[in-house]
Amino acid sequence: MNHFNIQGIGADDLAKEFGTPLYVYDGNKIITQLEKLRQAFQVKVNIKFAVKALTNISVLSLLKKNGAGADVVSIQEARLAVLAGFNPKDIMFTPNNVDFDEIREAVALGTEITLDNLSSLEKFGQAYGFTQPVALRLNPHIMAGGNLKISTGHKQSKFGISIQQMPEILSMVEKYNLQISGLHIHTGSEIKDVGVFMQMAEILFGLADQFAHLKFLDFGGGYKVAYKSSDQVTDLEALGKSLSQALLDYNQRSGRNIELRLEPGKFLVSEAGYLITTATVVKETPSATFIGVNSGLNHLIRPMMYDAYHEIINASNASGSLFTYTIAGNICETDNFGVDRQLPKVHEGDLIIILNAGAYGFTMASNYNSRFKPAEVLIYNGKAKLIRSRDNFDDLVKNQILLDF
Ligand code: LLP
Repeated sequence: MNHFNIQGIGADDLAKEFGTPLYVYDGNKIITQLEKLRQAFQVKVNIKFAVKALTNISVLSLLKKNGAGADVVSIQEARLAVLAGFNPKDIMFTPNNVDFDEIREAVALGTEITLDNLSSLEKFGQAYGFTQPVALRLNPHIMAGGNLKISTGHKQSKFGISIQQMPEILSMVEKYNLQISGLHIHTGSEIKDVGVFMQMAEILFGLADQFAHLKFLDFGGGYKVAYKSSDQVTDLEALGKSLSQALLDYNQRSGRNIELRLEPGKFLVSEAGYLITTATVVKETPSATFIGVNSGLNHLIRPMMYDAYHEIINASNASGSLFTYTIAGNICETDNFGVDRQLPKVHEGDLIIILNAGAYGFTMASNYNSRFKPAEVLIYNGKAKLIRSRDNFDDLVKNQILLDF
């Protein structure tokens, strides 16, 4: 019996129609999140979805239709965004450590460019001078974010040009007559503290006067979403109020009309995503009862990579006494999705759903153990549609070359 539905569509019906393991996204929830973010600000904000969180072109198309732009980190993400219908001028390319040829390709495609190192900036100056606007990603020396792997703005981080290197930046700007269109800071993911964003504001508004052609200030993404119902999340109302006020003050003081930009990933898509799996094996051991499911770290790596907590439910049995289980994948190394979780009794064949799987789920999936990547389904206005088919064996071999010995 099914005990879980998304927009009224039962998990069992989804499993029957599309099979498991299956990624399912609630498109209306994504749009609600986009609106919620917009509403939190008293000024107009230019929201660019961090495409790396969920790159399916139908999801991108839905976000585009609802007025979002795209933040991309590779030329391939840029091309996917174009394929999904984004106008290149609404795509911001913010790469790290890429070959300059990739930056040339993005310029040719017509995206905006943000650079995060002086070497690329110098090449950009030599290639384009004033003719091509460019934004700068700065490293503010702020430690923020849920864990070190997802912290990007601290002094030891590889990201951004250190704010201590402002003299070098300014002399480069002068030497090549660079048209600096924006300043950007992204300090990490899962930032609860609004104070971090206000520290960024102090830096960005403090530097803005030095750039005559500035059009926008970009505060990156990184809002904390609730993985557990008890999780403290970023206070968006407070963030929106303070940042809006800071912008209004700056624009009034300077007589400029600087735009505010945000690049949310998780906030838009995390809670809208579900990974539906099937319990394949229930295994009692002297230390635990394992629920083995037909997925693993190859499909959702967050628990093993970041010790991330994801809520797990039994969609086939919602009531009855609770048992303690460890839910594990089928990959040949430890790939627990959750340890010591209380779930109503699980039987082999039950649908086990991992929540908050919309962000950095499918996009970080791999074919490890030569397993297929799951299918993806988008539910929008009560209708479930396949937006990516499950891999097949041809996908596993199509780039391999069998030598004849
Ligand atoms: N802007 C830039 C420049 C970024 O590097 C990122 C994320 C974002 C925006 C969006 O951040 P968000 O709003 O999603 O927190 N795989 C990790 C997260 C890595 C984030 C990488 N950069 C995870 O699953 O937790």
